[in-house]
Amino acid sequence: MDSQKALERIGFLRNELNRHNYLYYVKAQPEISDYDYDQLLRELIDLEKQFPEFDDPNSPSRRVGSDISQEFVQVRHKYPMLSLANAYSYSELTDFDNRIRKALPEPFQYVCELKFDGVAIGLTYRNGRLVQAVTRGDGTMGDDVTVNVRTIRTIPLELHGADFPEEFEIRGEIFMPRNVFDEINSEREDIGETPFANPRNAAAGTLKLLNSAEVARRKLDCTLYYLLGEKLPADNHYENMLKAKEWGFKVSEHMTLCNNLTEVQHFIEHWDKARKKLPFDTDGVVIKINSYRQQNILGLTAKTPRWAVAFKYKPERVSTELLSVDFQVGRTGAVTPVANLKPVKLAGTTVKRASLHNADQIQLLDIRVGDWVFVEKGGEIIPKIVGVDQSKRSLFSKPIDFPGACPECGTTLVRPEGEARHFCPNQYGCPPQIKGRIEHFISRKALNIDGLGEETVALLFDNNLIRDAADLYSLTREQLLALDRFADKSADNAIMSIEKSKSVPFPRVLFGIGIRYVGETTAKKLAQHFGSIDAIATATVEQLVEVEDVGDRIALSIIEFFSDERNRMLIDKLKAAGVQMAVSSADTSLLSDRLKGMSIVISGTFSRVSRDELKELIARHGGKNVSSISASTSLLIAGENMGPAKLEKATKLGIKIIDEEEFFRIIEG
Ligand code: IVH
Repeated sequence: MDSQKALERIGFLRNELNRHNYLYYVKAQPEISDYDYDQLLRELIDLEKQFPEFDDPNSPSRRVGSDISQEFVQVRHKYPMLSLANAYSYSELTDFDNRIRKALPEPFQYVCELKFDGVAIGLTYRNGRLVQAVTRGDGTMGDDVTVNVRTIRTIPLELHGADFPEEFEIRGEIFMPRNVFDEINSEREDIGETPFANPRNAAAGTLKLLNSAEVARRKLDCTLYYLLGEKLPADNHYENMLKAKEWGFKVSEHMTLCNNLTEVQHFIEHWDKARKKLPFDTDGVVIKINSYRQQNILGLTAKTPRWAVAFKYKPERVSTELLSVDFQVGRTGAVTPVANLKPVKLAGTTVKRASLHNADQIQLLDIRVGDWVFVEKGGEIIPKIVGVDQSKRSLFSKPIDFPGACPECGTTLVRPEGEARHFCPNQYGCPPQIKGRIEHFISRKALNIDGLGEETVALLFDNNLIRDAADLYSLTREQLLALDRFADKSADNAIMSIEKSKSVPFPRVLFGIGIRYVGETTAKKLAQHFGSIDAIATATVEQLVEVEDVGDRIALSIIEFFSDERNRMLIDKLKAAGVQMAVSSADTSLLSDRLKGMSIVISGTFSRVSRDELKELIARHGGKNVSSISASTSLLIAGENMGPAKLEKATKLGIKIIDEEEFFRIIEG
């Protein structure tokens, strides 16, 4: 390559890498797989080596991506948090092995482990207790996410046994098991949020949440794979991991000692298949020199140890023909292009359909009907189209036209500013949106009407028996029996479960109504705070954002919902049917009046109760929880990690500050 061409290519690669870095770290919405990212990065590094005259201190090749966010305190790693060099083929692995043999002319052993696909974490233990959990950050400084990490059940807060060093650090990977990921994504889809692209993004997003109760709900998991400290029990990695296991850590599962490269290859081959049955994602195998003495001889480069390498599995990719594209309309009106493919085997399943995400994606990849496309199943659960085999393109292929009108109801589609998706705005006339809302209403976490299902909803809708969720309550046994699908028993069953849903508590009804962005947790908080649908319907934005976790976006969505007459009519119909539209007195009755007349601010996190529970306790003992400190505040309950600004303000105003224990002494008399 000549120097001019190289300069152009370097510029292009730097731009692309910067863009993908941003998409990955800042937006948590990557467009390319890690594998593809690594390929670009490697090309850049190679070119920069070949053409040192184009060096730039700001090149993305110099940067280890940073995940530091403002809200967490940044701390310095005692030992820098290194990354690993990658190998993408057996020949690269052989190069690694040769380098080791050259530098280490004596027998040695490798330890092979799975490479967990999540977020790196460093845990510090002092006297057997977890004291700090820090993310990688830029490798030198990371975010202190201890409060969130404490919620992860597989991380011991206190160690078993007594033979651990007084102080040590253990590193590992925090990840989200696939079943949890599926559950959370289906919830996100329910409330109209963009689902996470893969479990790794979901884990990263979760770890950075400011609300650790929400983190706990998301059931993260953690595997540990690296011990650091001064007085470690053994002089090698393998035995130390076994020790760590005895102390109560979940350590690198299926860790295996290997005597040579052939054994390493067996491990890699075995797990390439077997990993698909694991409940979590793995994207490769990590190979480490076992002995610490030998690790020290080999030493480190600036960013990675020379004694370890990550072998990355290739995401499975096949090519097949794109037969046609459907445009699916969801409950929220979002239109998703779905590719119909000539069936093809991929990663053990037959793939017939793949998501095309949105119009931009189609344009970016220039995908046309009749094309041979590459389909990949990498970290993503749903297979996706990653490119077009241009060599097989027919002269007659035509670009895909994103429809201007809803394929279901003909309404002109809109694309709100800042949204990648198109929406059908005909909420009340577009059949899949109406049916989708009713399905959501009857779902398990909402009204739990289990005598009906997706197909019955469609049938009732198609027979003009229901037009909204409230119509369910006027269905009669006779109407159901007139439909083919129902017999005596199933009709009784349906009527009974509809009847039973009238006693479902208000928070679940609020969730079931399906206000955009109001998920299960938000619904609970709104219900607790306002007490009834009428109070929510008449609340202002300012009043709504008083509720924990409710920001402008949710508040505006609520306002918009109630400003539509059709929604107000739905609420009236549900009320008339006898559905719970307020919190019942059993949930809110006063326990005492020990906090009567007091305005109470809470700050930080608490160990006996969650912040929400604390707020509820304040209310049930007659107090009032307020969000900010003023001269009229009676009390500040200070938890762990309380904001310094609040403390300063409270001290200045002479407000009484108490801790959690004292609060309980007060309410328990
Ligand atoms: S050892 C100094 N072992 O992959 C070496 N890392 O791509 C410390 N990872 O930075 C890392 N599984 O975040 C190690 N079994 C494993 C791993 C693992 C996943 C992560 C880790 C590392 C990254 C490199």
